[in-house]
Amino acid sequence: MTNNIILEMEEYAKEKNVPIMEKEGITFLQNYIEEKNIKTVLEIGTAIGYSAALMSLKGAKVTSIERDNERYEKAKYFVNKIGLNDNITLIHSDAFDTNITEKYDLIFIDAAKAQNIKFIEKFKTNLNKNGSIIIDNINFHGLVGKSETIESKNLRSLVRKIEDFLDYLSVQTEFKYEKKEVGDGLIILKEA
Ligand SMILES: C[S@@+](CC[C@H](N)C(=O)[O-])C[C@H]1O[C@@H](n2cnc3c(N)ncnc32)[C@H](O)[C@@H]1O
Repeated sequence: MTNNIILEMEEYAKEKNVPIMEKEGITFLQNYIEEKNIKTVLEIGTAIGYSAALMSLKGAKVTSIERDNERYEKAKYFVNKIGLNDNITLIHSDAFDTNITEKYDLIFIDAAKAQNIKFIEKFKTNLNKNGSIIIDNINFHGLVGKSETIESKNLRSLVRKIEDFLDYLSVQTEFKYEKKEVGDGLIILKEA
């Protein structure tokens, strides 16, 4: 039953062109949750609730923020259908307008890819001591590091922002970080 709903989410995402995590990335995240005994997750970027559901199925309580109304409604539908209402709290809002006081073991940032630094700055106080921040799509489909060769101005600008983010990581001293070549590339940050 659960597997069928996960499959339904994958099919919906494909059909409606909703970006969800790659299999390899989500499997890494699920293992990370188990290995590190992560109990609470704050996710920025719910889309239709796919990663929220899969993280929650590993025993974590997930709070997830989504600004798009249609995706938020679909996430509510799927979370309800899969029976995870008690473990997933969905917030319909722009993350930059959302003030959260609780602290979490893991903050998973999977939203507007050009705004990673701003998301970290806004939510870093919501991280438990020894907690982790994980950021997805750090390779942006193999384009990061090749922005100069991209013709589309918008895409070039977005990829440059991710390159700027990597530069920022290499000079800041607040977090130690590691890059994982899984899925579309992940960065894991921990307080230094
Ligand atoms: C890549 S999708 C999330 C996929 C989801 N984590 C998964 O793997 O199932 C990114 C989502 O972030 C949302 N988003 C982007 N910027 C946001 C913001 N500032 N606040 C809330 N949601 C945002 C987008 O509307 C989009 O649905």
